Amino acid sequence: MASYMALARKWRPAQFHDIVGQDPIVRTLMNAIRLQRLHQAYLFAGSRGIGKTSIARIFSKAIRCPHLLDLPEQGLVSCDDCSSCKEIGTSTSFDVIEIDGASNNGVEAVREIRENVKFLPSSGTRKIYIIDEVHMLTTAAFNALLKTLEEPPEHVLFIFATTESHKIPATILSRCQRFDFRRVSDKQIHSRLTRVAEAESIQADPAALNLIARASEGSMRDALSLLDQVIAYSGDQLTVESVIDGVGLIRTDTVFQILNGILSRQPHAATQGIQAAFEAGHDLKLLLRSLIEALHEVILYKATGHCSAQSYFSSSEREVLQNGATLRPLEELETIFQILHYGMEHLARSPQPSITLDILAIKCAMAEGFVQVGTLAATAPPQPLPTTRPNPPAVVAVAATPPPPAVAPKADIPREKTWEGFIAYTQKQRPLLASLLEHAVEQELPLHQMELRIFFKTQDQYKLDQLKSKIYFQQVLLLADAFFEKTCRLEFVVKDSDQVSVAERKVKAQEARQRAAQTEVENHPIIREAQSLFGGDLGPIEWSSSSHQESANV
Ligand SMILES: Nc1ncnc2c1ncn2[C@@H]1O[C@H](COP(=O)(O)OP(=O)(O)O)[C@@H](O)[C@H]1O
Ligand SMILES: [Mg+2]
Ligand SMILES: [Zn+2]
Repeated sequence: MASYMALARKWRPAQFHDIVGQDPIVRTLMNAIRLQRLHQAYLFAGSRGIGKTSIARIFSKAIRCPHLLDLPEQGLVSCDDCSSCKEIGTSTSFDVIEIDGASNNGVEAVREIRENVKFLPSSGTRKIYIIDEVHMLTTAAFNALLKTLEEPPEHVLFIFATTESHKIPATILSRCQRFDFRRVSDKQIHSRLTRVAEAESIQADPAALNLIARASEGSMRDALSLLDQVIAYSGDQLTVESVIDGVGLIRTDTVFQILNGILSRQPHAATQGIQAAFEAGHDLKLLLRSLIEALHEVILYKATGHCSAQSYFSSSEREVLQNGATLRPLEELETIFQILHYGMEHLARSPQPSITLDILAIKCAMAEGFVQVGTLAATAPPQPLPTTRPNPPAVVAVAATPPPPAVAPKADIPREKTWEGFIAYTQKQRPLLASLLEHAVEQELPLHQMELRIFFKTQDQYKLDQLKSKIYFQQVLLLADAFFEKTCRLEFVVKDSDQVSVAERKVKAQEARQRAAQTEVENHPIIREAQSLFGGDLGPIEWSSSSHQESANV
């Protein structure tokens, strides 16, 4: 069976015209090649999954391909057939060297580069170094790199990619031509997802793709990873339900119900929506974010008469939003926005997020235009709770409002704070997520410190990519907060370890059970007797699903 390739990898753009949403950058890079005015160092800056690595490879191919074409529609197109194109496509080129700055961040790695840049490319005229996550280099490494950048051999070109450009020293920045990559718009993600789904023979409800597009926050990689997950969950028919259940996204109508409750001054309707989402196991931070996004649309519409060009709400959804805009004057909408926006931070730290969100919603439903959140913050400093966590000021400010019914924390949390316990806890609420986490080979638990570090083998990069997507990352954090009963920090790390993951242990346990059963059956007097009578070997043991008894084929 052919091994399964993640959609994000399978759909890596191969040419400039495949790139979505980075038009100015693509145009500038193509012109640099056309005019033969290449810089010696480029910096590609921007969040994850928006095309930095893809463009670095496409650019490298175009620079080196001897059969490069310039077509009226597509622009520059490399042949994808010469040895240079092929090697770059499979990351095996000697002349286009990709270096992961995160794992080669020391001065030795850069010294090695400095030694190597002296040599001419093995073919063609340019040797290209792509250093990903370049902000991870140590100070000593940056200094060594600077020496090369000051006097680079003519045949060398550097492309640095980073998600955190502010960590790069000014001395390096000043020697690079810098490109700031944009997040891809929901609309562009939606149309790409539609194309991918079609090509993969997946029947996807546009509203389902819509949810995925919105949840991926401008990251095309996250969008494709989410699509992968939903397909794994629901097969080739994607509906809004399968997206909601498969990756724990929140229904737009729940968001609208809450928003409507707020705007029409019906706190009860709003808190009911919140409880429903909470009981369904949804991430309340995500819910609040969706509320803020929807409210943003309402405000935009109120102020300008148009919805945002970036977002993607269906026409019926827009109608609801536009109706919402008639319910309140602009300044009240802004007040509500401030309360919710301000509430994000508190919700993130809240030991009882559903209560915090309830209170925020009630506060919003009662909000009048003149309430200034700034003053609210100033007069209501965080109050210490019995735990050391700060109490959200919003809660203090509305202490006069009748408190909502207390909510018992979700699913009982076992006392033993072990990794296995955490997996079991996750399993109950987010089975798909648990099945990814099970592959971690090592962990550092947030027991004496705040960090939860989860280590994966290089070969599980694909799982790691999914876990790093915003939505999973938030879900893991949320579960970790609840399970370890503290505000955790989360880090996923690649590490080649010979430890055994929970997933591997499960497989081994299953095999051991199988072997034990086999031995037991083999040694059973009746079976022995049968063997001695009829000869022959024992076939594999089959577990009968109903009674868990073994049956053996002799
Ligand atoms: N601008 C884009 N246009 C089309 N696909 C994209 C784009 N950005 C990212 N992708 C998809 O996401 C995957 C990862 O993109 P990548 O270029 O590695 O992102 P980055 O380096 O910015 O993290 C690609 O293989 C591709 O499937
Ligand atoms: Mg990258
Ligand atoms: Zn070529």
